Amino acid sequence: MIYVISGIKGGSGKSKIATNLTIELAKQGHDILLIDADDQATASYFMAFRNETKQEEVGYTSIQLANKAVRNQTLRLKKKYDHLIIDTGGRDTVSQRAAISVADIYLIPFAPRSLDIWTLEKVVDILEEMTAINPTFKAFSFINKADFQGTDNQEVEKFLKEAANLNFLPVSIGNRKAFANTAAQGLGVTEFKPVDKKAIAEFMGLLSYLTNIDHLITRPWYFRNQFLKTERHVSIKAIRQTLCVRD
Ligand SMILES: Nc1ncnc2c1ncn2[C@@H]1O[C@H](COP(=O)(O)OP(=O)(O)OP(=O)(O)O)[C@@H](O)[C@H]1O
Ligand SMILES: [Mg+2]
Repeated sequence: MIYVISGIKGGSGKSKIATNLTIELAKQGHDILLIDADDQATASYFMAFRNETKQEEVGYTSIQLANKAVRNQTLRLKKKYDHLIIDTGGRDTVSQRAAISVADIYLIPFAPRSLDIWTLEKVVDILEEMTAINPTFKAFSFINKADFQGTDNQEVEKFLKEAANLNFLPVSIGNRKAFANTAAQGLGVTEFKPVDKKAIAEFMGLLSYLTNIDHLITRPWYFRNQFLKTERHVSIKAIRQTLCVRD
């Protein structure tokens, strides 16, 4: 599975989500390649910090790519890894388009701020254009850096739910210190001390959704059987609606 964490707004949390997703999928036993396709190199700096903190236990492989190489190298490397996660910059660049051209899942965090939601129209245009090149990828939005009070989260949610070709994931990640303070040590939110149970639960909620989407896309029969047997974090109805899958 190729996950592209993207969008055209700086600071929405793309690198934060990409690095945490990488760390948690690796902890689940998957062989993960994190591709840094942003010339700001946040994910690469993160790996450098992680190397210092975790030494030989970093848990995943990380490389930096730009422009057309994002597509070409990803296609070459995808046979070698269980999952590839591409962190892009917050602009509409050749690198970002190249990443979407090979994506299975295109995941866009939105902070509940007007400057973030104003990029939605452009995001929808990009999705439409890229569908001509990559007809099979699925795009998902969710709220990151959610507020703990006020109505901004709900208002942003309303816009995101209305956006064409962009499926809204009903999980939100709060604006929490446990996310903000992990970068300099190269740690994921589940590794951070002191333990922030709420931050971990929120991230695991997102991970649970993404893991189920993975199953639904690649092995629908497996997902359905598993779901019927166990209580899952997400409702199958919501997943079906999200992915427009019918019985
Ligand atoms: N849920 C969160 N709670 C608190 N802080 C967060 C959260 N998500 C991200 N941050 C912080 O917000 C800042 C921007 O996050 P990040 O670098 O992941 O954004 P980005 O979208 O990758 O930015 P860029 O567009 O520059 O690549 C960082 O300081 C990060 O620690
Ligand atoms: Mg970034």
